[in-house]
Amino acid sequence: MLSVTPNVRFVGVEDDNLDLFEGQYPLQKGISYNSYVIDDEKIAVVDSVDRRRCREWLAKLEAALNGRTPDYLIVQHMEPDHSGSIRLMLEKYPSVKIVATAKALEMLVCFFEGMDVAERCMAVCDNDTLELGRVSLRFFTAPMVHWPEVMMTLDMGDMLGKMKDMPPVAPAVTIRSRMHAGDIPALRCLAEALAKA
Ligand SMILES: [Fe+2]
Repeated sequence: MLSVTPNVRFVGVEDDNLDLFEGQYPLQKGISYNSYVIDDEKIAVVDSVDRRRCREWLAKLEAALNGRTPDYLIVQHMEPDHSGSIRLMLEKYPSVKIVATAKALEMLVCFFEGMDVAERCMAVCDNDTLELGRVSLRFFTAPMVHWPEVMMTLDMGDMLGKMKDMPPVAPAVTIRSRMHAGDIPALRCLAEALAKA
């Protein structure tokens, strides 16, 4: 399992049996669905994956958790290739709380009809933080960078460490799900948010 940092593990999965992205863009080598586990006193999972690879993702997640239970599922984007496995994840881990923008939570209810998640949701806004222990996560919304509910998550400690010897744009290596065509606006949005932080 790939470790991004000592306490961040990649639990995303590959989908090499897909020939069209979003049903229209040809793929030659399939696609990756990105998801991460941040392991601290509290455990956060960042994004889920397409329902097509849900079983594989949950198995990787379970291995990464090594018997522990996640505390949070951070939902950065509601398009189904990122959100399609949320329902099954919530069923497997009933104590998990969902962290997302208010807009994403509105969508979530519509996406998963009949799923009562009211008690399990935490809406976050720009500059809100989530303390996991040593790790402090900060959220930055990026509305209309792709979809209206998109947000980015920064590990502030990791970012500050990187800033010592990297150019200013480098901290934009956030725990963001797969960037889309909106990479450049997303980075600009993040730089603006950081300037205000
Ligand atoms: Fe998307």
